[in-house]
Amino acid sequence: MVANNTSTLIAVRDVDSLRRRVKAWRREGKSVALVPTMGALHKGHLTLMDRAQKMADCVVASLFVNPKQFAPSEDFAAYPRQENADFELLNSAGVHLLFAPDVNVMYPAGFSTNIQITGIGGILDGAHRPGHFDGVSTVVAKLLLQTLPDIALFGEKDYQQLVLIRRLVADLNIPVDIIGVPTVREADGLALSSRNAYLTPEERAKAPALYATLCAAAKSIAEGGDIAAVAAAAKAALLESGFRQVDYVEARNADTLAPLTSGKEPGRVLAAAFMGRARLIDNVPLSPQK
Ligand code: PAJ
Repeated sequence: MVANNTSTLIAVRDVDSLRRRVKAWRREGKSVALVPTMGALHKGHLTLMDRAQKMADCVVASLFVNPKQFAPSEDFAAYPRQENADFELLNSAGVHLLFAPDVNVMYPAGFSTNIQITGIGGILDGAHRPGHFDGVSTVVAKLLLQTLPDIALFGEKDYQQLVLIRRLVADLNIPVDIIGVPTVREADGLALSSRNAYLTPEERAKAPALYATLCAAAKSIAEGGDIAAVAAAAKAALLESGFRQVDYVEARNADTLAPLTSGKEPGRVLAAAFMGRARLIDNVPLSPQK
């Protein structure tokens, strides 16, 4: 990480240094926000940083590519890493502190705890990526307890992750407010994602079909369409648009992720599908307000 003369961002790699900084802010009566990330930052992440700055006096960003949330067959090794560029982006965004621990800081020898959230952790992405949400829950619990922020911000882009983390902090009485931030998209509707870097130009041109298909499905369900039939049609439409495999397209209750029973409930339509080697996820609300 390069800290140049104009840097106001401080980077720390160990928990004691993180806690010392946060304690100093607390003594000054300042509020603290945490924005956890895996780096390869884009406008979606930076929108979370912006929102954090509006809501708290001091903003901590964490950057940790968490091995526990990748299955052995997944893209942990290939996941984009650009720590110097990320440092500069966070510095320009006015973030105060970057916590970028090494893997042996997060998971020292002997580490044995696994947080498994039953129900929410095993459906949708959890069913297709066994162990993924255990890894997310475990690392997010650690980051929250290491930092002890007033608020922590997460994107609706990873909607199931957001619902899971709300469950985690409620169940474990972690004293933090979880703030969900709407998905930031390219002009053509594609949700910003670090994994978009895997798309070839041809695949990138086809990828916005995911958002378009979800919007059409959400509209049909909100207008009273049969939920199972709409989801099946959306899956077929994705395959037709060039996605090579569709893991799921499902309509769920926006708060609990239980299967949606009616288009009048607060709902969310969620999908995961492969475009080339990129596994893309996205979701939309049934109606614009939820
Ligand atoms: P990562 O994929 O780096 O995302 C960090 C945060 O940015 C998450 O809360 C995610 O939902 C949000 N985000 C990503 N793309 C977004 C977009 N287009 N619009 C709005 N928000 C967006 O999610 C993770 O990392 C990890 O699972 C983590 C929570 C850090 C735990 O390891």
